Amino acid sequence: MKPGKQQPIGIFDSGIGGLTVANAISGALPQEQIIYFGDTAHLPYGDKSARAIKQYAYIIVDFLIEQQCKAVVIACNSASSVAYPFLYELYREDILIFNVIDPVVKGIAQDLSLRKIGIIGTQATIQSGIYERKLLELRPDLEIRSLATPLLAPMIEAGFYNNNISRAVLESYLKRPEFLELDALVLACTHYPLIKNDIASLLPDHVKIFANTDFVPRELKLELERHYLLNPQRTGNNRFYVSDYTEAFEQTTRAFYGQSIHLELCNLWKNQ
Ligand code: DGL
Repeated sequence: MKPGKQQPIGIFDSGIGGLTVANAISGALPQEQIIYFGDTAHLPYGDKSARAIKQYAYIIVDFLIEQQCKAVVIACNSASSVAYPFLYELYREDILIFNVIDPVVKGIAQDLSLRKIGIIGTQATIQSGIYERKLLELRPDLEIRSLATPLLAPMIEAGFYNNNISRAVLESYLKRPEFLELDALVLACTHYPLIKNDIASLLPDHVKIFANTDFVPRELKLELERHYLLNPQRTGNNRFYVSDYTEAFEQTTRAFYGQSIHLELCNLWKNQ
C-alpha cells in the first residue's frame, strides 16, 4: 500500500548528531511529523565496519517503517556512505529513502565557481570515497582533498566546541597547506554544524563551508512534492527515540536540536 501524506518522516543517526538534520527539516517543513531514532547503543558508527553499520541500519529502517513512516532520511554520513544502496534496493517500493550525501553533491556540482573542494568526515565516510566518486561523476574538473577527522564527533558529543580545546584539535587537522587553498569545505558528518564557527575561524575568509543541513531539507521537500506526499497540515507530535538512554544524551540534545527534547528509550536489540 502506498504511504499517505499525513504519515511521519523517519530520521536516524548513530546518535544525536543527526538532530542537526532533524532540526533543519523541522524548520523547513514544520507541518511534517518527525520520528527520530538515535542508535546511541552503537555509536560511533564512524569506526565500525560497513557490515555492522548495514545491520544496524536495516533494523532501524524496519522499525521506522513499523511506525508508518512515509519517508526515511539517513541523517548520518557514515550510514549513508555504506548502507544507503542496500537500503534503497530493499525498501524503494515501500517508502522514499534519502541519504544526506546526494543533496550536498548536487548543490556543490551546480556551483561552477567551486573547483578545489575539501571533505572532512568520519573514517567510514572518508574511506568509502563516496563524496569524491559522486562529485567527480558530475564535475570531473574538481580537485578534491579528503581527510578523516575521527576525533571530532566524540569531541563534540562530549561538549567540546567553540572553545580552546576544539580549536586546538581542529587546528591540528586543518592547518595544512592544501586546505588553505580550498574554495569550499564539506562538513561530511552531521555532528559538524556545531563546530562550523570554529572551522571558519581557522580557514581563509573566501572558503565556503557546506553542511548536510544546507541541502537536505530542500531536496526532501522537492521529492515529497514530486510524490504528492507533502503534508498540508500537522497531525502528530514529533517523537525522539534512542537505543540507550542516559541523562547526558538528553542534556546534549539541546545543542543539536536547538531546544530541549525528551528522549524515549527504545532498544531494538533487547533480544540480543
Ligand atoms: N553523525 C555521524 C555521521 O554523520 C557520525 C558519528 C558517528 O561516527 O557515529 O557520520
